[in-house]
Amino acid sequence: MNTTWKAWALCAALALPLYAHAADDALVKRGEYLAKAGDCIACHTAPHGKPFAGGLPMTTPMGAIYSTNITPDAQTGIGEYSEDDFKRAMREGVAKDGHNLYPAMPYPSYAKVNDDDMHALYAYFMNGVTPVKQANRESDIKWPLNMRWPVKFWNMVFLDKGVYRDKPGKDVAWNRGAYLIQGLGHCGSCHTPRGVAFQEKALDESGSAFLTGGLLDNWFASNLTGEHNVGLGRWSEADVAQFLKTGANQHASAFGAMASVINNSTQAMTDADVAAMSRYLKSLPSAGGSGGAAYAYDAKATKVSLTRPANDAGARVYTAYCMHCHGVDGRGFAPMLAPLAGNPNVLEKDPSSLINVTLNGTEDLVIGGIPAAYPMPKYASVLSDQQVADVVSFIRSGWGNGAPAVGAGEVGKIRKVAVK
Ligand code: HEC
Ligand code: HEC
Ligand code: HEC
Repeated sequence: MNTTWKAWALCAALALPLYAHAADDALVKRGEYLAKAGDCIACHTAPHGKPFAGGLPMTTPMGAIYSTNITPDAQTGIGEYSEDDFKRAMREGVAKDGHNLYPAMPYPSYAKVNDDDMHALYAYFMNGVTPVKQANRESDIKWPLNMRWPVKFWNMVFLDKGVYRDKPGKDVAWNRGAYLIQGLGHCGSCHTPRGVAFQEKALDESGSAFLTGGLLDNWFASNLTGEHNVGLGRWSEADVAQFLKTGANQHASAFGAMASVINNSTQAMTDADVAAMSRYLKSLPSAGGSGGAAYAYDAKATKVSLTRPANDAGARVYTAYCMHCHGVDGRGFAPMLAPLAGNPNVLEKDPSSLINVTLNGTEDLVIGGIPAAYPMPKYASVLSDQQVADVVSFIRSGWGNGAPAVGAGEVGKIRKVAVK
């Protein structure tokens, strides 16, 4: 061999492992992105806990269960999981030792994630996440309800194991959006109503209940179909994308459980992926509304009661506590200060979110590392149940909103469980 050849061979031998390493880095990076799209951190991290070390309590009707450690620690985490073990946990809800996971882990959605993405996720959890030694915590559910084997039967009825297949006749963006929304995004785990066995009533657009809105932990996760009052019917694709990227647009702002989805997940997604999800959502036909005429702004009637608030208990609370931010015209100063006129969350039949946000304010949205300038204040210690009922009812009937009134009893129920 001449020296040039030797030099070449040496370079190749040195470069090969470097090249392999670079390819791994790209794979781990892609896995990290997918873990954000799947918002694994939201459930697998306790408040002030180490990332992915588990321990977050999740309430179920039978008692609290705790998310588990998914860092690559060999003893307490998933360090001993093979890629097949990982896929089985993600798609079938079965842990390495064979026990069934409770469906609080959204495996019915993750079942749709394809092999390439599973491979990247696995690479990230094994190589990109810092191992943490932290033992898992037993659930608070008492025997016999804590038995896990009934979940096997639940899975037989409700788990649809196939990965997502592109729908013919739909464009690339639509299919990408459907894949993300139904799969990693697990949007339906909050936004689709649940049936008697706690199952999501539909896992894709073929079921009419899909993404028509669901109640969880006293937040109502909005209707995301094309319904023109309580859904996204009056939003453009660009409006939806702006909401997912920044947590606010001209129609509404993110609060409750959605603020954390935006903080940890959707704002980190590429413009192309966010556009694809918006395209898919905007293709969903109207479902789950009251069938009433589309909202039209009407300032007149409400202006009258605001100029003579003494006659109206709700208007009195509104003028004293809310008007300087949300405006006489109910239009706020969007997207910084949420509008209440025509806001789908205000028009929604279930008033839980409105009561909860008035009592507890909003969790800070943090966009690009910067917390929201004017978060919504808490009124739990300022307003009585009756005053909250009055002001929420006032907002629901103001500016042509036309949503039903709320009673003090409903406020009391939410105050009892949702005010810390
Ligand atoms: C909505 C909450 C939630 C989200 C989001 C979530 N998980 Fe989980 N996951 C759980 C809970 C709760 C458990 C434990 C269930 C049990 O003990 O029955 C779990 C268990 C697991 C397990 C089994 C580990 C073990 O040995 O117990 C793996 C692996 C896992 N999750 C991976 C992931 C990954 C990867 C993501 C993101 C793509 C993710 N999870 C997102 C709630 C969630
Ligand atoms: C942990 C529960 C949860 C998950 C998961 C979740 N959402 Fe939400 N979402 C909510 C709640 C609660 C609201 C109502 C509060 C608000 O408007 O921010 C909401 C509101 C929204 C809104 C605003 C609708 C309106 O009328 O104001 C959009 C758009 C949205 N979600 C899209 C998504 C998408 C897309 C996903 C999946 C990538 C998703 N959400 C996942 C809980 C969730
Ligand atoms: C300091 C300004 C401020 C005051 C005062 C205020 N709000 Fe808000 N409110 C906000 C902001 C900002 C948001 C959106 C916050 C977010 O989502 O992060 C909001 C959101 C809301 C929402 C949810 C709307 C949506 O985006 O879907 C409701 C309902 C609401 N406020 C009601 C009230 C009521 C009732 C009062 C008076 C008792 C009140 N607000 C007082 C700033 C304010």
